[in-house]
Amino acid sequence: MNIKVKKFLNKKNKSKIICLTAYSKNVALILDKHCDLVLVGDSLGSVLYNYKSTKEVTLDTMIRHSKSVRLGVNKSLMVVDMPYNTYRNPNEALKNAKLIMKQTKCDAIKLEGGKKIISIVKNLVKNKIPVMGHLGILPQTEKKFTFKGKKLPERNRILKEAKLLEEAGIFSVVLECIETKLSKKITEQLKIPTIGIGSSVNCDGQVLVIDDLIGLSEGKFRFVKKFANTSQIIDNAVKRYKSEVLKKQFPKAKHSFKN
Ligand code: KIV
Repeated sequence: MNIKVKKFLNKKNKSKIICLTAYSKNVALILDKHCDLVLVGDSLGSVLYNYKSTKEVTLDTMIRHSKSVRLGVNKSLMVVDMPYNTYRNPNEALKNAKLIMKQTKCDAIKLEGGKKIISIVKNLVKNKIPVMGHLGILPQTEKKFTFKGKKLPERNRILKEAKLLEEAGIFSVVLECIETKLSKKITEQLKIPTIGIGSSVNCDGQVLVIDDLIGLSEGKFRFVKKFANTSQIIDNAVKRYKSEVLKKQFPKAKHSFKN
């Protein structure tokens, strides 16, 4: 097993696991100092490209951003989302996962889904590709973006799918917007780490979209806490730059060249 994946697995029940998304090198360099896992999420479709859905994100786009992130990630586990329609059957998934791993040098890939993707996951794991799962809200195919686990049949299905995915060989699973008691149950019953987004403190670790956390995006989700107001910082810096250029205070001699 990949040594970074093993280290990640060993964190379960020892300390909370820190995960964030990154889409480019400079941000990844900062995150790598603090995170156990850096995810190149297909959320980049909405965050960077204003796409209405992650369905529009292509393999090429994921590979391009992942190559940039790879330049900044050294110690953390780097995981890349497989985009929509790139893992419709075991052969297609294997071909595309191999391409992502080869081109981006990432450590693992992430797939959305439960029962439907079990044979796909088994084939990837058999071929030594570390796989992270994703249950709860599944943005690539979701019809109703509300939290999951309201009713008993849905709770039972999600718990069962989490167990099936674990048996199929995933090393960890993202739980997106899963009801608090259900995320506790899943976390207690699985041996692998659960990583929550909108799924309460009960998960083994947490993940957020970096632009949301630093206050660079406009999204207002219940599960997001804005830890900084980066938009304001950039706005102030640009205002000062504009003012100094207009007043001819910038550039000074020390920023210029002279023979
Ligand atoms: O695409 C993404 O960024 C994700 C995380 C939010 C878990 O899947």
